[in-house]
Amino acid sequence: MAHIHALDPEVSNSHYYNGRRTATAANKFPNTPVFQGMNAPSRFEGDVFDLEVTGTIPPEINGTFYRIQPDHRFPPIYEDDIHFNGDGSVTAIRIEDGHADFKQRYVHTDRYLAETAARQSLFGRYRNPYTDNESVNGVIRTVSNTNITFWRGMLLASKEDGPPYAMDPVTLETIGRYDFEGQIKAPTFTAHPKFDPDTGEMLCFAYEAGGNGSDCSLDVVYWTLNAGGKKTEEVWFQAPFAGMMHDCGVSKNYMVLPLTPLKMSLDRLKRGGNKFAWDPNEDQWFAIVPRRGAKTKDVIWLRADNGFHGHIAGCYENDDGAIVFDLTVADGNVFFFFPPEETVADPHATKRNRLSSPTCRWIFDPKVPSGTRVSPALVWSTNGEFSRIDDRFVTKKYKHFWQAKIDPTRPYDFAKCGPPAGGLFNCMGHYQWDPNEERKAGEEDVYFAGPTATFQEPSFIPKNGGAEGEGYLIALLNHLDVLRNDVVVFDAHNLAAGPVATLHLPLKLKLGFHGNFVDHKDIEAWQLRRQGDLGPVQVAREPLLWQQSFI
Ligand SMILES: [Fe+2]
Repeated sequence: MAHIHALDPEVSNSHYYNGRRTATAANKFPNTPVFQGMNAPSRFEGDVFDLEVTGTIPPEINGTFYRIQPDHRFPPIYEDDIHFNGDGSVTAIRIEDGHADFKQRYVHTDRYLAETAARQSLFGRYRNPYTDNESVNGVIRTVSNTNITFWRGMLLASKEDGPPYAMDPVTLETIGRYDFEGQIKAPTFTAHPKFDPDTGEMLCFAYEAGGNGSDCSLDVVYWTLNAGGKKTEEVWFQAPFAGMMHDCGVSKNYMVLPLTPLKMSLDRLKRGGNKFAWDPNEDQWFAIVPRRGAKTKDVIWLRADNGFHGHIAGCYENDDGAIVFDLTVADGNVFFFFPPEETVADPHATKRNRLSSPTCRWIFDPKVPSGTRVSPALVWSTNGEFSRIDDRFVTKKYKHFWQAKIDPTRPYDFAKCGPPAGGLFNCMGHYQWDPNEERKAGEEDVYFAGPTATFQEPSFIPKNGGAEGEGYLIALLNHLDVLRNDVVVFDAHNLAAGPVATLHLPLKLKLGFHGNFVDHKDIEAWQLRRQGDLGPVQVAREPLLWQQSFI
């Protein structure tokens, strides 16, 4: 989960005593870099009709670019709180006929409702219920701030520490907690479900899934839901250690789940500490799960030398039946705020911009025994993160991917911008694999945003009827000097030419995580079904199993 937010928690102010918010504190955020500059809370909800545009929005684009960001609604209980603990807030950029409208709404999680009623933070440290106000014991803690995906006519706002919440794709109103019509009762659910473009299935998983979602359990579960929304596969298995499992890859017959050496500890949670600690001596692991009919015994684990997983580009099976699995892997701890347990944190020792983050191609033989050691087939020094592909090629051999790129050799205006909030993603890269040589790096096409701007994750917009990669790339641009955001649209095959359109937002958002473009034809078709035979989205009717002891 290499989301990069190099923010040092260090400074004190009078609203906090010994790092904890005082009972009489005013409504004031900490004076730490987590809450300043580009990272300052936005807390904005509203609409902007017909955004100002430079260039021309391609008239054939008709759909909505959704993305989600953490955005604390209230000053945190702990002064050294981290960006990941912010409440989920969704952006919708509706594009039609060469125009774009903007909408921003929070996800109304159970936590949102409880804290709204109290007008203050009630939940403590990131994924640590032992630091909460006791009035919210038994309340689902998730902030649903990591991804926003489209499924059967609804948006699902998700974060891997809790269940997803359904939202209306047009109004962004929260419909409620979604448990897939009672089919999924686990306490956690991935923020990176994948969608098979040929079958319409959702492939998804959860880790720390066997208990209450905060007990550091080893339990992992893999599910498939078919295009009709029915659960067709469920496989439970255990991880070799309790660690982070963030993204996944799917091929026609397998799911690949990376386990990153960021370790959980129940003792540390009970002491009021961090959810995760980086273990530089632990291997990176990969679970290989057959997609159809698998039992627990069919899951194998492969292991490789230590590394920090970023996001997956593509995954497919080659002619030899091996799984080609591509993702960025950094050579150290990207999350410096989760340092190794035994050492004192040195926030300057492992800053993101000093790490190397190449795209690693792994070619896994799914028939080898569990525990087999593996190494990358290719290390391509792309030095970026937030890889995306043309999602019509999920499970398939693909050629194109895009990535926010770090290029420290380019000029950066430190005087105007200060440290680059979220990491120096000053370029957007378009990469093409060699179609004939699987183990060879391909071509790179790069656009540099200039010395005062950085990118957030891109999403691909396919051109109707176009070949792979034919279409547009859309992403948020952070203007670090003037604290404002744009949305840029590129010809996905030619980033170097610069944006074809820049949509100017009249405000600053936050550093977000993930987003997806949804074609308006899909939204409309599902609206008709939801108004007709299918009926409205059914939210969860029962509390989660672990909540029942609090009732
Ligand atoms: Fe992610």
